[in-house]
Amino acid sequence: MTHMPRPGAIAAAPDHSPDAAPDRHAGIYRYDDLDREFVFQRVAQFREQVRRRLSGALTEDEFKPLRLMNGVYLQLHAYMLRVAIPYGMLGTTQLRRLAEIGRRWDRGYGHFTTRQNIQFNWPALVDVPDMLHALAEVDMHAIQTSGNCIRNVTTDHFCGAAADEIVDPRVHAEILRQWSTLHPEFSFLPRKFKIAISGTPQDRAAVRTHDIGLIATRDAAGAVGFTVYVGGGQGRSPFLAVKAREFVPEADLLAYLEAVLRVYNQYGRRDNIYKARIKILVHELGAEAFLRRVEEEFARLPRGAHALDPALVEAIRAHFAPPPLERLPERSPAFDLARARNAAFARWTRSNLHPHRQPGHAIATVSLKPVGGIPGDITSDQMEALADLADRFSFGEVRVSHEQNLVLAHVRKDELYALWQGLEAIGLGTANAGLVSDIIACPGLDYCALANTRSIPIAQAIATRFADLDRQHAIGELRIKISGCINACGHHHVGHIGILGVDKKGEEFYQLLLGGDPGPQAELAEITGPGFDAAGIVDAVETVVRTYLDLRGEGERFIDTLRRLGHAPFKEALHGAA
Ligand code: HEM
Ligand code: SF4
Repeated sequence: MTHMPRPGAIAAAPDHSPDAAPDRHAGIYRYDDLDREFVFQRVAQFREQVRRRLSGALTEDEFKPLRLMNGVYLQLHAYMLRVAIPYGMLGTTQLRRLAEIGRRWDRGYGHFTTRQNIQFNWPALVDVPDMLHALAEVDMHAIQTSGNCIRNVTTDHFCGAAADEIVDPRVHAEILRQWSTLHPEFSFLPRKFKIAISGTPQDRAAVRTHDIGLIATRDAAGAVGFTVYVGGGQGRSPFLAVKAREFVPEADLLAYLEAVLRVYNQYGRRDNIYKARIKILVHELGAEAFLRRVEEEFARLPRGAHALDPALVEAIRAHFAPPPLERLPERSPAFDLARARNAAFARWTRSNLHPHRQPGHAIATVSLKPVGGIPGDITSDQMEALADLADRFSFGEVRVSHEQNLVLAHVRKDELYALWQGLEAIGLGTANAGLVSDIIACPGLDYCALANTRSIPIAQAIATRFADLDRQHAIGELRIKISGCINACGHHHVGHIGILGVDKKGEEFYQLLLGGDPGPQAELAEITGPGFDAAGIVDAVETVVRTYLDLRGEGERFIDTLRRLGHAPFKEALHGAA
């Protein structure tokens, strides 16, 4: 955040991380003194604002814009503090601090969200400045986690490690973070603005559901550039983003995004909150007309002033240098033996590992979806124990995924068994990544003031129905996503099975959607028919799964069976023949 006091400029802070820190190789951006000073000043400012609110000098209405600038929401029962985790990367020093904050000022836990952030659900307002101060001490804050500004840039949780990656997206995510933080022109947009970037065509960042989605890639000569998508979003009117440019060269990235945001800032609707997102502007103008304005604006921009300096990109890249991974053979006899001897470990390796680019290593997903648990929740004790495991096995680094899980990205294969045992001991070893019980769910009526229905108990009931892990593995990849209202914070539009809570004459009802996909073959889910009550929706999911099992081809995933056969057989099973 080097340039925070000088918004719009980008710079690379020197890396001051002490050599002895266990997370010195974690792939996080390190602040310089100026960044730190700025964040501490901001805490002091907010402390004064909170004092004035508590003394009655400010009404809640007057205080609202001030608290929202610092990530403080008012939920159903309490204030909530949303803390930014830049592109989901955490060092273990930071994770331990989050644990401490949860224990000291919340109820001993935190909640990881679908936007790679963490939320504390029960802080007392009087304590929030101390929480923010404690965060500032480990280079964290809550700025731009709320409000009509550019929010936390999200990315692929396997970045910098995945075998299929073409460009490490953290470098550009950091550049975008610096560019967008307190950007004077884009601090009061018509509505919030979300950018996601993926460095692989496998797109694990759901880029087409974002206001701007970027796929970082290389041209034939190896130069970095970006396929740019614009105008995606979920909420009450979901749209997949349209392709704006096949290849924007790296040097032009900021100029191009500046052009998109200028057109949005100028023409986006401010008269109706439900029509204010860029997706509506793209839709109302038509993609072609919208993109023409972007190109005109882009042509007008003084390119030199916005060009990304390659030396600066390199300096930022240095913050994300790979950790000192050992050269190992791809096969690990110790790993193979442990798999052969322990069926539960073998099962976990089938669902929770992803190929690493360095032979002899793997990326491990730490499930925050124990059967019957609350998706995304983790206790302070678990955070601390996980930090110990990350120091021991993954260079002091932990990532947050938009699927509300955590990731240890650089684990030696021959240490995976020890890691799994450590995870099992703290309740984080569930072998369900990508399976039926790995459910995304928004906070819903348990916390959220906008909710129609509860989401968490529905996720718990479905996970409990499918508790048998062998059965889940036999069913295979199936992504269920639940939102407690039309705002779609739980991504139901892009669930293989999406569940949307609706209010029907004062009663909680749930619509079932099928066929959504956030990935490279992005699709929006479609409603199948009339909704279900809380018990009925669990049965309905069971019906969909049984229908799939009856109809699937050899090794065919749920989403592929659905694509092959269409929705008709599923609708018929759910609602009878039309
Ligand atoms: C105080 C609690 C929350 C409030 C008041 C809130 C409000 C909203 C609203 C109004 C929208 C619709 C925006 C639009 O269509 O223009 C939305 C979308 C969204 N929210 Fe939340 N939300 C809350 C909590 C969360 C949480 C906990 C998460 C993550 C788990 C989250 C992630 C998202 C996502 C991913 C979207 C859809 C993407 C998009 O913006 O189009 N929200 N939220
Ligand atoms: S989807 Fe609705 S109920 Fe769920 S968190 Fe968002 S606003 Fe609240």
